[in-house]
Amino acid sequence: MDYRVTSATVEKTRELGRNLGECLRGGDVVALIGDLGAGKTAFAQGVGEAFSVKGPMTSPTFTLIHEYSGRIKGTEVSLVHMDLYRLKHPEEAEVIGVEDSFREDAVCLIEWPEIIEDSLPEDRLIVEILGSGEQPREIIFRAVDRAWEQRLKHQ
Ligand SMILES: Nc1ncnc2c1ncn2[C@@H]1O[C@H](COP(=O)(O)OP(=O)(O)OP(=O)(O)O)[C@@H](O)[C@H]1O
Ligand SMILES: [Mg+2]
Repeated sequence: MDYRVTSATVEKTRELGRNLGECLRGGDVVALIGDLGAGKTAFAQGVGEAFSVKGPMTSPTFTLIHEYSGRIKGTEVSLVHMDLYRLKHPEEAEVIGVEDSFREDAVCLIEWPEIIEDSLPEDRLIVEILGSGEQPREIIFRAVDRAWEQRLKHQ
């Protein structure tokens, strides 16, 4: 089941990230798909707001993985933000410890997840952002199962 929302501004994209963030919990993995400049990092920053992440959430373009301490509904949880654009082989993801971030006390947001498609947990949420530049974005939430459908419905 897909849910589609239009976002005309970066603020709206952040707000959609924040709304999703409020229904996330430890162990969740969110794959963020979209072209360069689509708004994946902006969306991730919105999720960070829901987790009361302190300090600016910058793009992990060069560092590949950023980890923040977050808190949601009184529970502490890490927020791991990745950008795998620069990886050329899936083995590199192993070396930098991508899979170590798939753990119960962390929520994982992955920009450019295509390279690790085969090792992503089955139970993940896909958020696809269509459009770039000054175009309005179409943001598609793809629920893989009924559990995600229910969670998205209540966000
Ligand atoms: N509706 C919108 N939603 C999101 N971003 C928008 C929107 N309209 C304009 N923008 C602009 O598009 C840019 C999105 O940048 P962002 O870094 O979030 O993209 P990205 O998908 O993470 O790119 P990359 O693949 O390079 O990491 C920002 O400069 C933002 O201000
Ligand atoms: Mg980005």
